[in-house]
Amino acid sequence: MQSEYTFRHKHILGIRQLDVDDINHIIYTARSFKEIGNRPIKKVPTLRGKTIVNFFFEPSTRTRVSFEIAGKRMSGDTFNISASSSSATKGETLIDTAKNLQAMSPDIIIIRHSCSGAPNLLAKHVQASVINAGDGTHEHPSQGLLDIMTIMEHKGSLEGLKIAIVGDIAHSRVAGSDMIGFTRLGAKVYLAGPATFMPVGVEQFGVHVCKSVREAVEDADVVMALRIQMERQKDPLIPSLREYASFYGINSDLLKNAKEDVLVMHPGPINRGVEMNPDVADGKRSVILDQVTNGVAVRMALLYLVLGGDKGEVAQGA
Ligand code: CP
Repeated sequence: MQSEYTFRHKHILGIRQLDVDDINHIIYTARSFKEIGNRPIKKVPTLRGKTIVNFFFEPSTRTRVSFEIAGKRMSGDTFNISASSSSATKGETLIDTAKNLQAMSPDIIIIRHSCSGAPNLLAKHVQASVINAGDGTHEHPSQGLLDIMTIMEHKGSLEGLKIAIVGDIAHSRVAGSDMIGFTRLGAKVYLAGPATFMPVGVEQFGVHVCKSVREAVEDADVVMALRIQMERQKDPLIPSLREYASFYGINSDLLKNAKEDVLVMHPGPINRGVEMNPDVADGKRSVILDQVTNGVAVRMALLYLVLGGDKGEVAQGA
């Protein structure tokens, strides 16, 4: 990264706000933090004295745990609140909750919420940095960044790669962040899925909508499958899971059409046998667990950078 570059973002609300230099700098920083996870003592003093609140209104395994590990690995004080254990269940509004959290002087609030835009609203009412851990069908920026880091580790760069994203594009905030991030870094993104899972006007992201999953996967460098987001659908949008799996499930026969060194990705959680067969998810081309490992490093980088780590505003020692 050029020495004149400065990371200027107090909040991480979406990949949309990040330019190519920002993305490259986050990945560069994450790479430098990644080896801390291989040390016998996985702790540095970088965020000592900083308070980090994980506020999750929706279930999560990977994102919540990795943000917590990221904070603890840098000696931050991390606290977890879930919707069911918060006073949101008693009718408190998000803004009131935000003001009350702010009264306890956190440095960072990480929020996952079912409403698109909830992190943006929160950011207007608190002095703390806000990081979007997934909002409705909008964005999941830290997932997009860890996906980029994983592809870069294996392919060097995203420039010119063919990346197929298959599944429920319309309800996936991962797709929202990946489409922006991948195309911004020069990849060619091909989408496949049932018409009911394809957002109207999605081509505005600079992506190509395929007529079949075979067209998307043909000669692909990366194949990513997405879970069907049942929790965001009032009525069923596909006739049956079995039919979906037979048309859109990623299996080893379909994968023969991709490049030999294709990367198989999935943000998790996987519904095995629906969007991806177990032999593919656990196969030699799968980098799904690399994505999870990189999630900790990317989230360490985000915590560090939003608090001005680059500018010497937190302790040294990484
Ligand atoms: N990829 C992802 O967001 O997983 P979790 O829902 O388990 O956090």
